[in-house]
Amino acid sequence: MRIVEEIGRMQEEMTAWRRHLHAHPELAYEEVETARFVAEKLRSFGVDEVHEGIAKTGVVGVLRGRGPGPSIGLRADMDALPIEERTNKPWSSKVPGKMHACGHDGHTTMLLGAARHLARSRSFSGTLYLIFQPAEEGFAGARAMIEEGLFERFPMERVFGLHNWPDLPAGEFGMRVGPAMAAADRFTILLEGLGCHGAMPHQGRDPIVAAAALVQGLQSIVSREVDPIDNAVISVTRIAAGDAYNVVPDRAELWGTVRTYKPETRDAIERRLREVTDGIAAAYRTTASVRYERGYPATVNSAEEVSLSAAVAAELVGPSKVHSDHPPCMGAEDFAFMLERKPGSYVWMGQGGGAEGRVCHSPFYDFNDEVLALGASYWVRLVEHLAPPPSAGQR
Ligand code: NI
Repeated sequence: MRIVEEIGRMQEEMTAWRRHLHAHPELAYEEVETARFVAEKLRSFGVDEVHEGIAKTGVVGVLRGRGPGPSIGLRADMDALPIEERTNKPWSSKVPGKMHACGHDGHTTMLLGAARHLARSRSFSGTLYLIFQPAEEGFAGARAMIEEGLFERFPMERVFGLHNWPDLPAGEFGMRVGPAMAAADRFTILLEGLGCHGAMPHQGRDPIVAAAALVQGLQSIVSREVDPIDNAVISVTRIAAGDAYNVVPDRAELWGTVRTYKPETRDAIERRLREVTDGIAAAYRTTASVRYERGYPATVNSAEEVSLSAAVAAELVGPSKVHSDHPPCMGAEDFAFMLERKPGSYVWMGQGGGAEGRVCHSPFYDFNDEVLALGASYWVRLVEHLAPPPSAGQR
């Protein structure tokens, strides 16, 4: 492995930062101490400008290279999850019910490590924007930063993201051109019938039987209407109705999630979900109301940036450990909002542990500190490749 030498020497220090962040997790938009930690570190490294309070707790560091050149955004997420940690590690969460179970503590640390190195070396040209975003876990911190003028205040041409990946061994990278993570939407369906005695169902209109038919009907949208080569998921994840053994209730509520990669598939499923629901509700003499909420869009990587990421990763770990056509994932990621506006790439960095169940969002998960230096080196080499400093003769 060819990590940046100076970053290799920061291993111990980066591990200490990571474990400090791990022990003090903060949830979406509450990353006050984390943001303060990040901002203080950036200032101590000599980063040229440090902007705080973007989307409540977001931080952007501005680092200027030698001479004019491209403008690049590198993004790390800072938030934790509402999970009770069960790792029993010495650096376990000190906050009951909150935990860094997705490795955002590691992501923040790696970007800090890269910032420190690049602030010293200035081994690049142009302008580098170090984006530390809040609220990745379901609360769209990336979108909030964009809405607060991220790309106007810090005009960048491309954006790059990185996420640890327990299903890949440490020392390997995965990425793909096009959709890498899915769009994630959710729906709430209320079926209203007429309650009655459970022994005399003909006197009412049963929303539970309608709900049962609806679950089946919704499954036929993916199996019969989406191209089998395309990918989509509809899952009904909650059904609530009734309070007694002998009463047909008057209403039933269904919740669920929809995952898609293509915008046209997303549109088609939303439309058909409404139509199928209305049709089945009518068939069972009930009425339906559908609330369909669009969440994160699909995370779509652009070709040029993916090939650059793959080349940089290959330089670090060797081409055989870089999976440039890694299968996509049905999970969602709010870096998608940045990729909707700027070309860029979102890569997965292996850290192992997946086979043993230490997957993201598990109470047994922990970021693997052994990959900190590799991740920070990836950022440094990516910047140096994209924005090489002017050669001595040009200065
Ligand atoms: Ni995550």
